[in-house]
Amino acid sequence: MSQATQPETVPSTWVKIASTDALAGPRPVTPVTAFGQKLVLFRDEEGELGLIGRYCPHRGADLCFGRHENNGIRCPFHGWHFDRSGQCTEQPAEPVDSTMYKAIKLPSFTVVERNGEIFAWSGEGTPPAFDA
Ligand code: FES
Repeated sequence: MSQATQPETVPSTWVKIASTDALAGPRPVTPVTAFGQKLVLFRDEEGELGLIGRYCPHRGADLCFGRHENNGIRCPFHGWHFDRSGQCTEQPAEPVDSTMYKAIKLPSFTVVERNGEIFAWSGEGTPPAFDA
């Protein structure tokens, strides 16, 4: 009689996802695949990094082709805007008093930049300090 095997638990860790050079140039936005997900990495206007889900939760547009503006990424299709935490901050076609955007958030990962490399935390919650 065979017994089903349990999947191994993968420990949470910092994983290199890109080089700083990937964000060089006037439009610091690049696609990244990590943790089994397609993501978009960008540097906002405050110089902070964001690693968020690549596809817009509205109609699935690719945010790698979004507009890099207002300290985040604006979807190229209908203009929803996302900050570095993946939080939707604007929905231009909604009524002015709509707060629906507050309930919309893309997956996001904590990232750090060290010595020309960018690392993301694979786990949930607050990661331990990056030690490199
Ligand atoms: S597909 Fe992104 S706002 Fe509509």
